[in-house]
Amino acid sequence: MPILTGPVMLPYQTLITLRRASASTLSQQLTAAFIQLIQQGLLPAKAKLSGTRSLAQQLGISRQTAITAFDELAAQGWIEQHASSGAFVRACIPIVQPQALPGLPAEPGPARAGFAFARRSSSTSEALPDPTHLVLGAGCADHRLAPLASLARKYRSVCQRPNNRRLFGYTEPSGSRALRQHLAHYLHDTRGVQAQPETLFITRGSGMAMYLVAQLLLQPGDAVIVGDRSYSNADELFEHHGAHLVRVPVDAQGISVNEVEAACQRQAIRLLYITPHHHYPTTVTLVAERRVRLLQLAEQYDFVVLEDDYDFDFHYASSPILPLASADRHGRVLYVGSLSKVLAPAFRVGYVVGPPDLIAEMGYLRHLIDHQGDTLLEQGIAELFAEGELLAHLKRANKIYQQRRDVFCELLHTHLAGRFSFTLPEGGMAVWGEFAPDIDLPQLSAQCRQQGLWLSDGRRYQTAAEARPSHLRLGFAALTVEELTQSVHILAKALQATS
Ligand SMILES: Cc1ncc(COP(=O)(O)O)c(C=O)c1O
Repeated sequence: MPILTGPVMLPYQTLITLRRASASTLSQQLTAAFIQLIQQGLLPAKAKLSGTRSLAQQLGISRQTAITAFDELAAQGWIEQHASSGAFVRACIPIVQPQALPGLPAEPGPARAGFAFARRSSSTSEALPDPTHLVLGAGCADHRLAPLASLARKYRSVCQRPNNRRLFGYTEPSGSRALRQHLAHYLHDTRGVQAQPETLFITRGSGMAMYLVAQLLLQPGDAVIVGDRSYSNADELFEHHGAHLVRVPVDAQGISVNEVEAACQRQAIRLLYITPHHHYPTTVTLVAERRVRLLQLAEQYDFVVLEDDYDFDFHYASSPILPLASADRHGRVLYVGSLSKVLAPAFRVGYVVGPPDLIAEMGYLRHLIDHQGDTLLEQGIAELFAEGELLAHLKRANKIYQQRRDVFCELLHTHLAGRFSFTLPEGGMAVWGEFAPDIDLPQLSAQCRQQGLWLSDGRRYQTAAEARPSHLRLGFAALTVEELTQSVHILAKALQATS
């Protein structure tokens, strides 16, 4: 019970400074000021506080501001309020004296686990770019062009809308129904893929979609066809699941279907992973005859096609070729996509389209590791789709990326002639090319990094047949024309310095 004495009289006008221009509200500032007075011991445990009316008068604020601050102090456990006797500092307050944080232990913890476990990670993965560097990476979207302010507003409004209670709890592992509905329309209207909310599963990036597919479909020893070269993350993922990779050559028309058939004749193939729109990493588009043939082969040799359409939205030459999934009449194709190239990788929104029985099984698997996605974010993105803002962004970004591609390729022709050979990519976000044989890519990469430009050392693109790395993807989409110009100048200078 509080002691019934008068309130502690402090010169609040001198002790508390409230700023109307501050980003915090007056009641937030007042709350913080009272916490400080309690922590400093100026308002000791059990002390009675002035009434909100008198405090408001002293500080020249509204009484409601003082009431809100006191309510917040009570909610945080600093004070208790009694209708009859007023507000008191609690007898047992959260922190009376600021406590010095204990120093970090002089000795770090054990450097190794004290138990055995299987190590699967490789030590060859490249360090992430320094955030202050210009980055000619594998090809990323420019998040500065994305409608991030609108998305932030949507997210905030989704969080604050009073009738959104159902979004805050556990929900379906397959993701926001609203987003699945919008994605289904979008996939149908832009590329002829037939999807329904029941055949669409939203994941944290397409990486998770592919992981779930591999987990459900692959058994140790299964053969998986991938391009020779392919997306190294996918290679790793299949190998992680015990699959044996069958590498098939890729030429200027995409993956060689004759070689796919030859592989099928040699052994049973469980899955074929393909990026037909712009083959990863070489950027070539799989021609129409080969697409038709691939679908026939899948039916004839009973394998699953995992189609990773990671950058469908970006095509500059003509209308994009429709995905294999749009022509799949036998339920052979699993179609994977991502918003990483539409917005930014940070949002981790990907999806997979597949038969409902497989989608249901994915839900079971997903709930074991990540009950569901970010429902609130997904709802916000669904609303951006509904208002047409995402599609408008894609149209704008496509034009800008095309201009950046043209400028970048021109710069490469001018400044790297004879040192880097490439063909103009018809779409996507990166140029694929080969450095002259005398160029030591790891050394070039190190030299560029010293000058503030991140460039891969090429090991991730190296095939088993190559003695050293010589190829790179150079992503142009995320850099402005000025940044591209600066990057190519650094690259050209580094080439001079290393040769
Ligand atoms: C071939 C390929 N697939 C998929 C992705 C997208 O991955 P996520 O959606 O997990 O960000 C990328 C990203 O760079 C990619 O290069």
